[in-house]
Amino acid sequence: MAADDEGIRLQKVLARAGFGSRRVCDDIIAAGRVLVNGSVAVLGRRVDPETAMILVDGAPVGVRPGLVYYLLNKPAGVVTTADDPQGRPVVIDLVPDEPRVFPVGRLDLDTEGLLLLTNDGELANRITHPSYGVEKEYVAHVEGVPSRAALRLLREGVELDDGITAPARVTPIEPNVLRLVIHEGRNRQVRRMCDAVGHPVIRLVRTRIGPLIDHSIRPGTWRSLEFDELRALERSVADDA
Ligand code: URA
Repeated sequence: MAADDEGIRLQKVLARAGFGSRRVCDDIIAAGRVLVNGSVAVLGRRVDPETAMILVDGAPVGVRPGLVYYLLNKPAGVVTTADDPQGRPVVIDLVPDEPRVFPVGRLDLDTEGLLLLTNDGELANRITHPSYGVEKEYVAHVEGVPSRAALRLLREGVELDDGITAPARVTPIEPNVLRLVIHEGRNRQVRRMCDAVGHPVIRLVRTRIGPLIDHSIRPGTWRSLEFDELRALERSVADDA
């Protein structure tokens, strides 16, 4: 664990977590409202945000009142919107009504797998904004057996109608099943990449969003993020990440 004179200033950690300006955060610390690893923090305190357990008014930092974070295993045939004019099932129907949440990014109608839903707009923006480059991992069952040349193309960049794709990590896990890790999040990107190299996708499953992985959520069900998962996700989109 970091010594107290190492790490990041606590007021900065709190400001980043949305408690207000650094000055406001200093006031919160000075008022004795912040515990770090069980002790009341003093002004100037530094912490290792990787390991410190920080509580403000008894609530873990990162879990702000009213904010919820659901990790859903989206089944195929469900639309990633709040409302579908064609009356198809929508992801919002699979999670609690209140508080109202929205999906972070989107999966195609026929794509399955992990989808985050939250009412935390700031975190959602960061996860979807290309500049933070949050990795997403997919397992794609494709037609045919991609050759080494096709795999190289997928890895190095494929020419799509909206430009060449950034390098991707691509690993065959069976002859016609690929694990792809991308960080761009363009519309139907994996399907278009696989189409472009002559191996259309038959089934697509998202298996990871940044640090979030869970193979045990049954299709159509969800769970709340654990505290550590939320912290890891916040760290992955921190400005100095
Ligand atoms: N890439 C796709 O092609 N579809 C998705 O749903 C997600 C990523």
